[in-house]
Amino acid sequence: MSAPLLAVEDLTKHFDTSGLIGSEPPVRAVDGVSFEIDRGETLGLIGESGSGKSTIAKTIIGIHEPTSGRIRYDGDEISVQTGEQLDRIRSEMQMVFQDPTSCLNPRRTIRKSLHVPLRSVGLGKAERRRRTSELLERVGLNDEYLNKYPHELSGGQKQRVNIARAIAVEPSLLLLDEPTSALDVSVQAKIIALLEELQAEMDLTYLFITHDLSLVRNFADETAVMYLGEIQEHGTTDRVFESPRHPYTRALLSAIPVTDDAEEAYKPMSDPLEGEIPSPRDVPSGCRFHPRCPHATEACGRQHPSPYDVDGSEVRCLAYDGETAGFEDLHDRTAQLASDGGAAE
Ligand SMILES: Nc1ncnc2c1ncn2[C@@H]1O[C@H](COP(=O)(O)OP(=O)(O)OP(=O)(O)O)[C@@H](O)[C@H]1O
Ligand SMILES: [Mg+2]
Repeated sequence: MSAPLLAVEDLTKHFDTSGLIGSEPPVRAVDGVSFEIDRGETLGLIGESGSGKSTIAKTIIGIHEPTSGRIRYDGDEISVQTGEQLDRIRSEMQMVFQDPTSCLNPRRTIRKSLHVPLRSVGLGKAERRRRTSELLERVGLNDEYLNKYPHELSGGQKQRVNIARAIAVEPSLLLLDEPTSALDVSVQAKIIALLEELQAEMDLTYLFITHDLSLVRNFADETAVMYLGEIQEHGTTDRVFESPRHPYTRALLSAIPVTDDAEEAYKPMSDPLEGEIPSPRDVPSGCRFHPRCPHATEACGRQHPSPYDVDGSEVRCLAYDGETAGFEDLHDRTAQLASDGGAAE
């Protein structure tokens, strides 16, 4: 079997900010995160603000150095690569950020912005011109935009230019960090349609970060749910949405606004999420979610759960450790949910 295109193994990223603001404990932004994405697939990454989603993407792309752990691209561990091999891997992965404006130089025309990545792979002037027009057309803009400056474009058009830049060097992996959340709803749908077309045409692999649960449900093959630097649940998108096991996933999904009865039937009944996500400088002992979990037992404050295999999903919750008793309420609820095929309890 071929290697997954991207394999993240036990990745940790802590930010040590002491020195800047006195001696504070480090920010444990990402702690022991592992996942794989096969070529052509989309992994959706969801979770509350501050849970570490962007930090994962920025560490994969090389904006941050990992504190520990390994990132493999097509089987090759990135941290041991040098020279041309490292440059090749770096150009194979590109990132699209949330804010379409901040990534474009306001003093550069769209043509010049698109020339930057093309020059970096050694294309000559004539070839750059041809490729720039091709790229613009590919993202749904015509040559009229070449001589415009970013401020002359709408948010959606700017994001199209950012996507054109990202695909300019024909990468295999795109890290999409909330690429549509700064845009109007009608524009969001068009950008998502564009990303879907590009994925099919170029066999692209996506890590798709979003707060929009309906979007991830429609767009991602697999979904991973982050909380305080850890993945709490990871499985196929259908399974995570139809039969969520982790109390955090259940609480997150129960907050999705529904528009009809059919959607209502899919919502797991769960107590809504209360309180704030704790500081990543001072993570709770045991299960990181236990202070907010309606099912927490005394063991949850002591024992840090490993990810358990539950019907093909990975779930980081002691309720699924066969040795640990005291979760009858959660088991009853999830068992009923599974036997009802996702219907509400
Ligand atoms: N460069 C940095 N230095 C110090 N702390 C940081 C840095 N970048 C991120 N953090 C902290 O790491 C934690 C995770 O941040 P991150 O941006 O990865 O979260 P996120 O899940 O992407 O949130 P959001 O949904 O709001 O984008 C937060 O507590 C954040 O304040
Ligand atoms: Mg983020």
